[in-house]
Amino acid sequence: MKILAIETSCDETSAAVLEGKSDNVRILSNIISSQINIHKKYGGVVPEIAARNHILNIIPVVDEALRKSNYGNKKISVDLIAVTRGPGLMSSLLIGVQTAEMLAYAWKKPLIAVNHIEGHIYANWLNSINVKFPALALVVSGGHTQLVLMRDHLKYKIIGQTRDDAAGEAFDKVAKILNLGYPGGPIIAKMAGKRILACADRVAPKYKLPRPMIDSKDFDFSFSGLKTAVLYMAREKEKYRQIEKDDIKNICAEFQQAVIDVLVYKTIAAAKKYKVKIVLLAGGVAANQELRRQLEEAARNELGDEIIFNVPEQILCTDNAAMVGAAAYYRYLAKPNSAKIPPVKIKVDPNLEI
Ligand code: KG4
Ligand code: ZN
Repeated sequence: MKILAIETSCDETSAAVLEGKSDNVRILSNIISSQINIHKKYGGVVPEIAARNHILNIIPVVDEALRKSNYGNKKISVDLIAVTRGPGLMSSLLIGVQTAEMLAYAWKKPLIAVNHIEGHIYANWLNSINVKFPALALVVSGGHTQLVLMRDHLKYKIIGQTRDDAAGEAFDKVAKILNLGYPGGPIIAKMAGKRILACADRVAPKYKLPRPMIDSKDFDFSFSGLKTAVLYMAREKEKYRQIEKDDIKNICAEFQQAVIDVLVYKTIAAAKKYKVKIVLLAGGVAANQELRRQLEEAARNELGDEIIFNVPEQILCTDNAAMVGAAAYYRYLAKPNSAKIPPVKIKVDPNLEI
């Protein structure tokens, strides 16, 4: 079956075409139109501007996804339309949902709505790996930091989550404090480079930051104190002299390592406790090379060979429609009745929980 998927929950307008066959789903096209260049001068996403740009972009993006999947010149033969209905920005979500409703109505095709976080997790199914249950997903994005236990397809149990800022949000806020620009994740990763590994002894303790909640006995996280610690560290340095590029690089490296240490420690502990068969990494922060490398290494060293580690390729970690199509396909397989032919009204929910 062919699936057209649409994702507009934040500042990426994306459409993808996928092919689902028995227990497998693969990408035929995945078009992502990012608005980062528009929003970065404001230091973050401006919801009204995001919605206006989704309106301008959505039809060309859908059109390109269909064309690139080789359906451009033929009669439309999409079997299912998928769309994100939350969580995200209300005005942005509405553009995707209304477009999906309109296309489903015009083509008389069933429509299925998915949770954006579910989409991030299901990006892991696009690698053609054999995901066995129970699975543990570490979801780290701009709005979420959660450890999600899955005992089967579509069965989610949040076993731990952030009590304040999300990991991606912390990256973005620290980049703002250090005047590095938006979005912070890729910029901080670039500034950090391989620094912490190259000169660990030199970096500590001058740039030492806390590892919040690493000793708590639960699987929750907290990143807002880390951001405040960076703020004080930067102010302290500025008091005595101009903060230099080298200081900034060291702070970035230590901040990134502090986030990774807590994420890796808790994920490994949860994987042991729940005796999972696979550890999945998901969400925008999963694009971080050091996090990918260190979590994989820890899983290999501490969980043994039978437990698999998987992370989607980088482009499928940040927001994209292919992940929405993947989640929709497994939702459809499990509950074909949940796909409805319009007229139906999909309820957009900016705070939708998994
Ligand atoms: O999943 P995503 O694209 O959007 C949300 O659903 O929030 O995640 C965006 C977040 C941003 O906070 C961004 O700074 C972070 O992912 N991010 C990264 C990297 N690339 C994106 N964080 C750390 N390292 C990266 N390479
Ligand atoms: Zn996302």
